[in-house]
Amino acid sequence: MSHVKPTYVRYTEGLEVKQANEDATIDAIVESMLRVNTKVFDKHRHATRDAHAKSHGVLKGHIDVYDKLPEPLRQGVFASPATYPVVLRLSTAPGDLHSDRIAAPRGMAIKLLGVQGTQLLPGREAARTQDLLLVNHPVIAFGHAAAYLKTQKLLEQHADDPEAVRRILAAVAHGGSKALHLLGIENPVIDTLGAPNNHILGETFYSMAAIRYGDYVAKVCAAPLSDNVRALTGQPLRDDAGDSELRDLVVDFFRTQGAEYELRVQLCTDIEKMPIEDASIRWDENDSPYLPVAKLTLPAQEAFSPARRVFADDVLSFNPWQGVAAHQPLGSIMRARIRAYETSSRFRHEMNAQPRIEIDDLAQVPD
Ligand code: HEM
Repeated sequence: MSHVKPTYVRYTEGLEVKQANEDATIDAIVESMLRVNTKVFDKHRHATRDAHAKSHGVLKGHIDVYDKLPEPLRQGVFASPATYPVVLRLSTAPGDLHSDRIAAPRGMAIKLLGVQGTQLLPGREAARTQDLLLVNHPVIAFGHAAAYLKTQKLLEQHADDPEAVRRILAAVAHGGSKALHLLGIENPVIDTLGAPNNHILGETFYSMAAIRYGDYVAKVCAAPLSDNVRALTGQPLRDDAGDSELRDLVVDFFRTQGAEYELRVQLCTDIEKMPIEDASIRWDENDSPYLPVAKLTLPAQEAFSPARRVFADDVLSFNPWQGVAAHQPLGSIMRARIRAYETSSRFRHEMNAQPRIEIDDLAQVPD
């Protein structure tokens, strides 16, 4: 039986198509975010991230790019076998601090240090970092800028109501097309009510939207690899979970053991079936599976010392545009993120009077 070699879509600038009124849509998203951000600041007198405000552990480790990858996977920072130090922040999606008893999508932000290549962000040309921002669901239900603006307006409208925020974010992460019903938040869709509240370390985390992958186009994920984290997949939090249950689970875990995850890449094989301008459409793994490119190793460590938490929450920034041109984020949802992350981080750093730095050495992250 002969194997038909898959054809991978080649990256060209022409793959991206700007939406009608996209600039005005993005203005409206960013303005709404800043209003919510300011409201949350006024409540706490401390600025948090506009999304993923609550951290649950900050880890140092490294990524080893696999040797002998097939050509289509040997791209960008994965072009040749290399070891990159990483700092990683685990979070939940709301832009405020809610109890961990309220289920919320989980985030894993990874910063690779010492990467080669032209950097995307103006003013950060000297940086040598590649950020990967991942959430534990393969798609984002509001997958383009105009749809996202509707979500953002709902979040603003319900900023004082953690339960409504939970439903909105659960719908964004898990709702798919049904999530559109959520635009009448008074009658939220039932399937978001049962969103699982599982152990954060057993989750698989996805870029949700596409990035340039050197000569090609891809989505990226990080999946549990070592047995100890694979055993946590689908494990619900205990019934009497505390407000900071996720932090406690992460800290307890890493006090005695390390963990491994695998970075995998799903290459686009058909731009119609696997679009980049609508990140709500799942790229079918039967058409193109996630293929391993690197191993992420996180040794046993103290995951949430006071100094480390303050550094990660107030000084560090993760940004999908912090990285090399070979991994440029793609699609209107990604273009919206250019100004969203800049605005959120500027506000946070200015209000907390912290320097906006890009690290180049893991020693800068306190133990
Ligand atoms: C497309 C899929 C997306 C993923 C996978 C994602 C993931 C993440 C993650 C993991 C974080 C936490 C980073 C950290 O630990 O510092 C984060 C923060 C944030 N996200 Fe997203 N996000 C997505 C889409 C968006 C969109 C569409 C917007 C807005 C247009 C947005 C706005 C933000 C903002 C403002 C922050 C806080 C930035 C800061 O203050 O430093 N995200 N996101």
